[in-house]
This record gives sequence, C-alpha cells and structure tokens, in this order.
Amino acid sequence: MPNSPTSPAKPPSQPGSPPNAATPSPVSALLRGTALLLAFILLQLVLFVSLLGFPDGSRFLPAPGRRTTTFPNGAVDAAACAAGLVYVYDLPPEFNHDLVDDCESLWPWYSFCPYLTHGGFGEAAATLPVFHNATRNVSLHSWHNTDQFQLEVIVHRRLLSHRCRTTDPSLATAFYVPFYVGLDVGSHLWGENSTAADRDRAGLRLLRWLSNQTPFRNSGGWDHFITLGRITWDFRRYGDDGWGTNFVVLPEMANVSRLAIEADGTDPMDVGVPYPTGFHPRSTADVRAWQRHVLSRERSKLFGFAGAPRSGFRDDFRGVLLEECEDAGSDHCRAVDCRGTRCTDNGAAVLELFLDSRFCLQPRGDSFTRRSLFDCMVAGAVPVLFWRRTAYEQYRWYLPRGPVGDMGEWSVFIDRKALRVGNVSVRGVLEGFSERRVRRMQERVVEMIPRIVYASSPDGLGDGMEDALDVALGGVLERFRRRRGSIPREDVLAEYRPDPSLARRVDVNSTAAPRPSDSQNGSVAAISRAAGGKNQGPPDPASTHMKTVISESSASINKTFEQKS
Ligand SMILES: *[C@@H]1O[C@H](CO)[C@@H](O)[C@H](O)[C@H]1NC(C)=O
Ligand SMILES: *[C@@H]1O[C@H](CO)[C@@H](O)[C@H](O)[C@H]1NC(C)=O
Ligand SMILES: *[C@@H]1O[C@H](CO)[C@@H](O)[C@H](O)[C@H]1NC(C)=O
Ligand SMILES: *[C@@H]1O[C@H](CO)[C@@H](O)[C@H](O)[C@H]1NC(C)=O
Ligand SMILES: *[C@@H]1O[C@H](CO)[C@@H](O)[C@H](O)[C@H]1NC(C)=O
Ligand SMILES: *[C@@H]1O[C@H](CO)[C@@H](O)[C@H](O)[C@H]1NC(C)=O
Ligand SMILES: *[C@@H]1O[C@H](CO)[C@@H](O)[C@H](O)[C@H]1NC(C)=O
Ligand SMILES: *[C@@H]1O[C@H](CO)[C@@H](O)[C@H](O)[C@H]1NC(C)=O
Repeated sequence: MPNSPTSPAKPPSQPGSPPNAATPSPVSALLRGTALLLAFILLQLVLFVSLLGFPDGSRFLPAPGRRTTTFPNGAVDAAACAAGLVYVYDLPPEFNHDLVDDCESLWPWYSFCPYLTHGGFGEAAATLPVFHNATRNVSLHSWHNTDQFQLEVIVHRRLLSHRCRTTDPSLATAFYVPFYVGLDVGSHLWGENSTAADRDRAGLRLLRWLSNQTPFRNSGGWDHFITLGRITWDFRRYGDDGWGTNFVVLPEMANVSRLAIEADGTDPMDVGVPYPTGFHPRSTADVRAWQRHVLSRERSKLFGFAGAPRSGFRDDFRGVLLEECEDAGSDHCRAVDCRGTRCTDNGAAVLELFLDSRFCLQPRGDSFTRRSLFDCMVAGAVPVLFWRRTAYEQYRWYLPRGPVGDMGEWSVFIDRKALRVGNVSVRGVLEGFSERRVRRMQERVVEMIPRIVYASSPDGLGDGMEDALDVALGGVLERFRRRRGSIPREDVLAEYRPDPSLARRVDVNSTAAPRPSDSQNGSVAAISRAAGGKNQGPPDPASTHMKTVISESSASINKTFEQKS
C-alpha cells in the first residue's frame, strides 16, 4: 500500500529537506506531496542538465539531488558501496554557490570564473590552442586548464553524483561538508582592508550551522569530512592576528577530517590529497591512451624544472636548481620560467616541458608541496625530490612512502645539502641510472597516474580503476568505519603516521634522514610565525608570509610587489 511506512516506493528525500519530511497520512496529501516532489526532482534535473550537460562556458553550480546516480538505500549496487554511503550536506548557498557566483571578485588579480567552469576543471584544452601541441588529439578532450586551488569544487561535484551517495543521513557512514573555505579565505587574504575577522567570518557561521545538525551533534564531528582547496597553513591562524583564517583550529573542527592539497603532518585529522592537475580522463580508455602516449614519447632532456627563483628570499633553493640546469647544459636540461602568470596562463608550457623530460626537479615551493609534482607525474616524468615532506610524508594514501627498492622506485631523492656544497650534481646523480632503470621508474610513475587525477565522469573511471577521489573517499570511509567499530581514536589515526622504516632512499649518494628544518614544525606556519613574531600585522608580501602561501605560478608575487613598490 502506498501509505505503508515500509513502502519501498517511498521516494528518496532530497538533500536539505529533513529526512522524514513526507509524513504520509491521507492518500491525497501523499499524492500531492509526491507530485510536488516529482516536480521538484524534474526541476533539479532540468537545472542539472542545463548547468552541467552543456558545460561550455557555463558557470559551475553543483546541482543537488541528481536522482539517477543516487541510490538512497544502497540497494541498487550494494556491493559497490560496501564500505559505506556518503551524505553530502546541502549548505546554505553563502558557503559554496554564492562564492562561485562571485568568481569575478574572489581573487584580487584576475577573474576566477574561467577556472570554475566545468565543475572546477576550468576551460577545456580543446578550446585553447596552446594545448594542441602537447596532447595532439590523443587525449585533448581529457585536458583542461585547471587551477591548482579548485579541489573543493571538484570533490563536491563528484560526490553529488557518486553512486555511494545517500540522501538519507541515517544511512550514511560519512558526511561531507561542501564548504568552499579556500575560495572564501582566498578572497580575503590580500585585500588591503581585509581583517582577520573577515577571514574568519564564513568559517564561524558554517560551524554554527553545522553544530545544529543532528548528525554532527550525534558524532561530535568524527564521521564528517571537508576539503581544503588551499594549503592547510592558510586555515591555521592562532591568535587574533596573522596569516589566514583560524577555521581548522576552531574546537568544532577538532574531530573533522580534512582532505587538503597540503596537510599538516603533525595533525592526524589532515590528509594530503593530490593537487588537481589539468588531466581529467572520463574512462579507463582515456587513461590508457594517455599512458601509452607518455610512455612512447621521445624525451630529449634528462631533466626539467618549472618554477621561478625568488630573488627576495635568501638562499632560495630554486636558484640552486636553476644553476644546476644551466650547468647541465641545454642538451640535458630545460627550465620553464613561471614568474608572473606565465604558467597559469599557459598550463601547456609546463606539460610540454615534462613530456620532454625524463626527470623533473621538485624542490619545495612556497610551502613543502607544489602542484608541479603531479604535473610531472601525469606527464610520465620521474620526480626528483629534495624534501621528504614534499611527497613521501604528505600523500600517504597515494604515493609510496619513499622510493621503495629497485622495482618499486618511482622517484629520486637527492640530499640538498650535498647539492648546495657541490658534492653532487643533479646531472651526475641522474646519469648514474641505467636506461633500463629509468624506464622502470617511468613505468612505475605512469602506473600511478589514475590514482592522482580527478576523473571527469560523474561516476569515476569505471572498470574498477580508482581515481584520486575514489582513493580519498575509500580512505575516509575506512577511517570512519574503524572509528565506528569503537577502535580507540589513537589506533584509528595510527595509519596516518609516517613509518620511518619505509623511508628508504633510492640513490646511494642521497641521505634519507630528515634534516632539522624538516622536523615537526619546520612548517611554513612555524617559519612565518617565527619570522614575524607574535603579533604580526597584515602580511608583508616580501616576507616569508607571502612565500608560504602563494602559488608560484600565480600572478600574485609580481602584482603584489608592484603594488607595494
Ligand atoms: C607546435 O609545434 C610546432 C613544431 O614542433 C611549432 O612550430 C609550433 O609553434 C607549436 N605550436 C604551439 C602553439 O606551441
Ligand atoms: C587524430 O589522429 C588520427 C590518427 O592518429 C588522425 O587520423 C586524425 O586525423 C587526427 N585528428 C585530428 C583532428 O588531428
Ligand atoms: C580601505 O579603507 C580605506 C579607508 O576606509 C578606503 O579609503 C580604501 O578605499 C579601502 N581600500 C580598499 C581596497 O577597499
Ligand atoms: C570531539 O570528540 C571528542 C571525543 O572523541 C568529544 O569529547 C568532543 O566533544 C568532540 N568535539 C566536538 C566539537 O563535538
Ligand atoms: C610583472 O608583470 C609585468 C606585466 O604586468 C611584466 O612586465 C614584468 O616583467 C613582470 N615581472 C616579473 C618579475 O615577472
Ligand atoms: C661534502 O663532501 C665532503 C668531502 O667528502 C664531506 O666532508 C662533506 O661532509 C660533504 N658535505 C655534504 C653536505 O655532504
Ligand atoms: C656516489 O657516491 C659514490 C661513492 O659513494 C661515488 O663513487 C659516486 O661518484 C657518487 N655519484 C655521484 C653521482 O655523485
Ligand atoms: C614546535 O612546536 C612546539 C609545540 O607545537 C613548540 O613548543 C615549539 O616552540 C615549536 N618549535 C619551533 C622551532 O617552532
């Protein structure tokens, strides 16, 4: 009977509506309600199709309630969702949609709007001639000019259409809070008159809202997760003044897991996930075509480096690497100068560089991590690392925790101190590897590609091939499942601690021992706190503050220096 409380025909409730909104009593009321609901669903679908179905030039808006890919009871494909279901909060629009609508003013230097199209992937490479050489027609449709800070939007969209999403909170194992906190704070980091209160406002409002939600109250937040589209240090301000917002260090966030492009290794609630690159395959076939393409490339250079020296910073290691590149000679090394907007405007420049190099140099950037690591790997080049925290201790769900033995090798670690004093040279180290060994490393890197990219199809790559989002969701669900099984908190989190025994080094001339400056609070936050003293004023662009938070491929350094000088 339609009015039976156990009726399987009861339509799923929509996100945002209370779980039991449709309380059926008289049949006519139920029918009216159902009709309304159907109309609502239809409207959502129309909206969805109009916004996402014809993405060219359309502004991104994640549509709530994408009916056909949501199985509220997990019954349709229960096996695929054995790990649990995820509930996506339907937040008040001020926390996500409004920020996207405001894309013209999110960033002081240029419009974010082009980067927010296609669900945060940015403009399609097919419409950007600079990409045509790099990918030809092999995989052109898989490429976008993607900004590195769009994780929040990308993850939100994927989860909305995820087959393991539920619209019934009572069935959920995990709760995703789609607050675009990175977009929000990004719009307040550099404003002349923007204050700490401006940067904190949205986060405080969000947590006030979240604290009123039953699932959050029930768990204290431990089965909730959020994405941080900027490095974690932008959200960890202690005290009333200083860089960034205090969002992550607020008490309500204490139990909430955070997927961040750069995590704080000392905070077990932070988990490092890959920076979004420009490669967004739809299917396993797309991945395989690209893998074949990168493995078949003739690479004319031994190594490549994309970056910009920071003349304002003493002893910038990037300067050292540029010299290494020069010393190696143009037959062996090429560098792409990313000052200004050179690499943001032209994502293809970096792609072409890495496609033509067997190795790529990945020093720490403004913080320990950089998008370039993933650009490099996606292009099938082997990363050369100088700081353990750039990758091994950062992306533990994704990357092996060190160059593990000959067969598993996917990276090279060089002791930066030895490089600085001239005991080794980059060219010398890299030429020490046999052709066969380099090829094996490359194959290992190429094998890892699907797991470090964000697929473009709503349901992932298919055929059991996991992309970065699948890995993240799997990790989150596993973490919550263990916690739900009342395993003590310490043990649940234990999986995220670095295991020093795994941190074996790959080449004999490099040392694996972490340097003092790499230790616990060699974090950029600590560095900037130390540099600026206790009560810093607004960040001085020339200070280490700026160094810690700006993407080197962005226009900000250039423009900020101009503004100030
Ligand atoms: C593409 O490559 C060709 C030859 O390699 C070069 O002449 C041309 O300038 C390149 N085009 C772009 C847009 O980079
Ligand atoms: C794409 O490549 C195929 C074969 O590799 C070729 O036949 C076709 O003309 C190419 N299309 C374009 C638009 O370049
Ligand atoms: C900052 O505030 C001052 C004084 O209130 C005002 O004149 C100035 O236009 C503001 N600057 C910006 C960028 O809003
Ligand atoms: C976080 O979890 C602890 C117990 O693990 C609990 O005491 C605390 O109240 C929780 N925090 C919030 C904000 O609910
Ligand atoms: C900064 O940008 C201007 C153009 O806006 C350019 O002329 C100048 O060379 C850039 N400076 C650096 C250091 O990239
Ligand atoms: C460089 O080599 C010298 C001589 O072998 C050695 O004493 C020194 O410790 C080395 N320095 C570094 C940083 O490796
Ligand atoms: C590595 O160290 C060995 C001695 O331990 C030395 O013979 C070799 O030249 C070094 N290789 C490089 C690239 O520095
Ligand atoms: C490292 O962190 C601890 C506690 O967070 C603090 O007491 C110590 O002063 C920090 N050290 C440095 C060098 O910042």
